[in-house]
Amino acid sequence: MSMDLNDYTIIKEGEAEILMHAKNEVFFNKTQVNNRDMSIAVLRTFISKRRQEHEALLSKRNKKNGSSSDVEDKPNDCDINIEKSNDQGLEEKPNEDPCTASEEPVKIEGKVRGKLKPPRVLEALSASGLRALRYAREVEGIGQVVALDNDKGAVEACQRNIKFNGSVACSKVESHLADARVYMLTHPKEFDVVDLDPYGSPSVFLDSAVQSVVDGGMLMCTATDMAVLCGGNGEVCYSKYGSYPLRGKYCHEMALRILLACIEVV
Ligand SMILES: C[S@@+](CC[C@H](N)C(=O)[O-])C[C@H]1O[C@@H](n2cnc3c(N)ncnc32)[C@H](O)[C@@H]1O
Repeated sequence: MSMDLNDYTIIKEGEAEILMHAKNEVFFNKTQVNNRDMSIAVLRTFISKRRQEHEALLSKRNKKNGSSSDVEDKPNDCDINIEKSNDQGLEEKPNEDPCTASEEPVKIEGKVRGKLKPPRVLEALSASGLRALRYAREVEGIGQVVALDNDKGAVEACQRNIKFNGSVACSKVESHLADARVYMLTHPKEFDVVDLDPYGSPSVFLDSAVQSVVDGGMLMCTATDMAVLCGGNGEVCYSKYGSYPLRGKYCHEMALRILLACIEVV
C-alpha cells in the first residue's frame, strides 16, 4: 500500500499514534481519551487479578495433591492436561500426546504446573484502531487484540495504523472487516475480554458480546446515549434497555444501573 504521509496528520494518544487522513473519514473522538484511559486501567487490573486467581488455584491444587513445592517445571512424564475452563479455573482432560510440551497447566506425578495464556481481547467496534493499539502498547501481559469494523475505510485505516505503530502492534493487533454481531456469535467463548464502544447505545451488541466472552472474562462497554439513559426519553430507554428511567440528580448512577441490569438479563 503506497501512501503520502503529507496527506495525513499524526495524532498521538498514550503510547499509540494514528494517521488521520485530511478528509477524516474514519471516526475519531478526541474527548473519549478519558474513556480509553479508564479502559486501560481496568484491563491492567483485570490481568493482574486473573494472574493472582490462577496462581491461587494452582497452589490450592498442589496442596490438595500433597505437593510441597508450588510449581513443577518438568515438561515430560505428563499424564493430564489442565486447561482453562469457562469459570477461568482449570479443568482436567486426558492428554492425547503425553510427551508434548504444552503451554497449558499440567499435572505431573501429583503436582501441578501451569502457565496462564495472555488474555485475548476483542475490540468489536474499532474505527481507526486507536483503542486496540493502545491496549497492545500500554497493557503489559496482554495477548492478541482483534479489532473489527464493518466499514471498509475504517479497516483500511486500522491496518495502516497497525503498521505505523511498529512491531509490537503488528504482532499483537489484527484487523478484520466484519459485522461485530455476526463475528461475536460465530466466535463463542473465544475472548477473555470483549470491548464495545459503539455510536450511542450498545444495546444491539450485548447479546452477541456476552456469548463471545469466556465465563470469568470481562465485558467492557461504553454507552454514549446518556440523554436516553438519564430519562430524556423513557420509551426509547425501555425499548433499548428494558428499564424505565426517572429524571433526577441521581440520573448518572441510574444510567449505569440500567446498563448493568440490561447486561445481566441478556
Ligand atoms: C464510536 S466508533 C469506535 C471508536 C473506537 N472504539 C475508538 O476508541 O476510537 C464506532 C465504530 O463502530 C463501527 N460499527 C458500527 N456498527 C458496526 C457493526 N455492526 N459491526 C462492526 N462495526 C460497526 C463504525 O463503523 C465505527 O467505526
